[in-house]
Amino acid sequence: MRLGVAGLGTVAQGLFKLLRENANRIARQIGEPISVSRVASRTPKPEIDILGAEFSTSLESLISPDVDIVVELIGGVDAANKLIADALQSGKPVVTANKAVLARFGNSHIACANKHNVPLGFEASVAGGIPIVATIKDGLAGNHIDSIYGVLNGTCNFILTEMDRHGSAFDAALHQAQQLGYAESDPSFDIDGVDAAQKLAILGSIAFDQPIDMDDVYIEGITKVDAEDLKYARELGYRVKHLALARIFNSSVEMRVHPALVSEHNLLAFVDGVENAISIAGNGVGSLLLKGPGAGARPTASAVLSDIIEIARGKSSLPATTGIARIASSMEELECAYYLYIPVFDEPGVMATLADVFGKHRISMEAVIQKSDAIRYSEDTRWVPVVVLTDRTSESVMNATEQDLQNLDYVQGQIRRIRVVELN
Ligand code: HSE
Repeated sequence: MRLGVAGLGTVAQGLFKLLRENANRIARQIGEPISVSRVASRTPKPEIDILGAEFSTSLESLISPDVDIVVELIGGVDAANKLIADALQSGKPVVTANKAVLARFGNSHIACANKHNVPLGFEASVAGGIPIVATIKDGLAGNHIDSIYGVLNGTCNFILTEMDRHGSAFDAALHQAQQLGYAESDPSFDIDGVDAAQKLAILGSIAFDQPIDMDDVYIEGITKVDAEDLKYARELGYRVKHLALARIFNSSVEMRVHPALVSEHNLLAFVDGVENAISIAGNGVGSLLLKGPGAGARPTASAVLSDIIEIARGKSSLPATTGIARIASSMEELECAYYLYIPVFDEPGVMATLADVFGKHRISMEAVIQKSDAIRYSEDTRWVPVVVLTDRTSESVMNATEQDLQNLDYVQGQIRRIRVVELN
């Protein structure tokens, strides 16, 4: 089995290492050894051991008779997309870790792979080393999937964990994640929630038998979460996670990624650092949780290798979708409890005024925190944060409530709001 590998970055280097270290076991799994016959990358890196492969700066060189599987690990969109399309069209099996390409062009690549009867593996595109694609597509093939939720972006989870544990500043934690090789080359994809949304769109497609549909994913990142929110959340019995959730609700599909307060008793609360975790509920299995490294060279390479081995065994299968998109549910209809951080002037009557606004919108306040040691001064004004945990209400009612609160003269800065999500 001969590979043509595109890329010399983190994941490709992890792949070369695992191929070398685990050569004997891999050969036993397949019945023959795996070699790398070609490597292509824009920039040569002679210091990397490419296992005796022929190197070229041209990606086209990989579509060659001495390559049995094209392994796309270059990242980015345009060049990777073209390589995948060219390879499938010329009948070459493809393995890719590229969620950005799959989220945008995955439906046409799957159609092309089906048409040419060629395998296309993308285990590594979601949740790094966790074998979630195979779990849903194969392990749970006999289930009706009701919901998937979890933490799908290691960089966000790493940042939130660092802020929570050490009170680190957002930028410092992000820099650390970049240094450790977790973040995307443009980290705004991580912190703005796009990376998690791409992964959720891919999982939603496999779980609910629908085309990959990024446009129907509601996306919020973590840039507005403050270390203070994490402290208050803890006090209230919660942790803040960047949550990805997809479920069938009233026969439409709900897919969303956003920061969320999750109970300190939920297993997600224990998923820290770069780890990812995914809980899947199916009508046969009940619910299960997979947790593990969601990024990094070796874990992602482990997922890439699983696809390569499945293809080499002749067992690789594509997801069987109906090809019909489900109706997306509207965020306005969502119902949940909310955490609100309201910076107010420290004056008599403020609390009553806030309570009036909640009362007017028929929202019950479940918990209120206002601490004297949180009082602070800016430009001669004395202000204090009031933190409110509300009872369940609809997103549309909360939008109107927040607007009314923000318009109060007593409120002296931007209100922050985080959804509280009840998970099974
Ligand atoms: N940047 C991604 C993350 C890793 O932080 O999870 C690859 O998907």
